[in-house]
Amino acid sequence: MRAIDIIEKKRDGLSLSEDEIKWFVDAYVRDEIPDYQAAAFLMAVYLRGMSREETVHLTMAMAHSGDVLDLSGIIDYAVDKHSSGGVGDKTTLVVLPLVAACGVPVAKMSGRGLGFSGGTLDKLESIPGYNVNLTETQFLHNAKDPGIVLAGQTRQLAPADGKLYALRDVTATVSSLPLIASSIMSKKIAAGAQGIVLDVKVGRGAFMTNLEQAKNLAQIMVDIGVDAGRDMVAVISDMNQPLGVAVGNALEMAEAVETLHGGGPKDFREHCLKVAGHMLELAGRGRQWTEGDEVRSLLIDKLENGQALAKFKALVAAQGGDVRVIDDPTLLPQTKIVEAFKSKRDGYLSQVAADDIAWAAFGLGAGREKKGDPIDLAVGLKIYVNVGDRVAAGDTLATIYANDESKLEACRQRLQGAFAYSDTPVEPLPLFYDTLYGKQASV
Ligand code: URA
Repeated sequence: MRAIDIIEKKRDGLSLSEDEIKWFVDAYVRDEIPDYQAAAFLMAVYLRGMSREETVHLTMAMAHSGDVLDLSGIIDYAVDKHSSGGVGDKTTLVVLPLVAACGVPVAKMSGRGLGFSGGTLDKLESIPGYNVNLTETQFLHNAKDPGIVLAGQTRQLAPADGKLYALRDVTATVSSLPLIASSIMSKKIAAGAQGIVLDVKVGRGAFMTNLEQAKNLAQIMVDIGVDAGRDMVAVISDMNQPLGVAVGNALEMAEAVETLHGGGPKDFREHCLKVAGHMLELAGRGRQWTEGDEVRSLLIDKLENGQALAKFKALVAAQGGDVRVIDDPTLLPQTKIVEAFKSKRDGYLSQVAADDIAWAAFGLGAGREKKGDPIDLAVGLKIYVNVGDRVAAGDTLATIYANDESKLEACRQRLQGAFAYSDTPVEPLPLFYDTLYGKQASV
């Protein structure tokens, strides 16, 4: 087979066979296909799309491009979660220790920032010493003890996604349904957890901007997971405005730690409780999550009695990070400039645009222009308001954390455009829109 023929076929809108997809993925992982051909392939997929069948083949080829872990020999039932990417989405940092504190082992491979959306690995690296590059043996060891592991894809696990993910980030091929579905599900299948909770974001700060697209993405991922023998839940959550207050790597880490200390922004905490509730539900420790039920109280207890925090400390210690940061977040990277951003008028907020806010943070240095670029872990924004809030002229809407004077004006301009006002009351946005289930018969 030749890469050019496969690219041409997809460019012309034809369907690729299982063999063609597998050949392309394997050859790319072995460095027999250069990045420029892989980039052309990605763009062809982006523009032409893929059938459900092709998407399943792509996912399986990526999942099997390296080892596929089997955690069942080590732990009874491991659960995992994944978000399709958003702004201010530091959910993993809270949910993983929270679930592990309930006695359910969690083993997760995460990614770096993609486009304007932040990445858990970058956030973790704001803790000095934290090692995201574990070997497979270390990954398996930590899944058992301390029962929580949070790392990047190892070279052996879903290596195709590691390479393609970085290439998509810099070739404008991120927001494609088959590419997102295969990226997420290949990692999840390779990492070996039996139960998987997906958090599919929808809105202007997500890769899926309308509810129908988000439902399609969620459904295809649930179907792929069930075919691969996993129990699946997918929640569809709002990403029109940032989740929580902080946007930016170290700032988000500080907010996650604050939430693990029992505080944190209300919307973010609620989001974490919902996702963690579904993870417990899959692991059989709970019933379906509903307001006021016993799973929710158990989770709130773990946040308030310090057990979730203790698990987070165990995670950081097991991966070589400086645990002092957890009791003293001022040890996280800090910026030289801290500036308040104030409202110019009175009114009800009708828009707190997650995409504009993400690009404002990106412009300060929080994201990557191209593959492998360094990022400034300290910079970012805190956004104190939500859609529906009533504000007065002069109220502080946000704080800008920057290290470079010359980047401030562009950030202020972006922020200005992020907020829109109405003179009449505006309904707050929901946190969640829908939940999809796909479970094996035994659950
Ligand atoms: N998260 C992933 O792991 N991959 C994507 O493509 C998007 C979000």
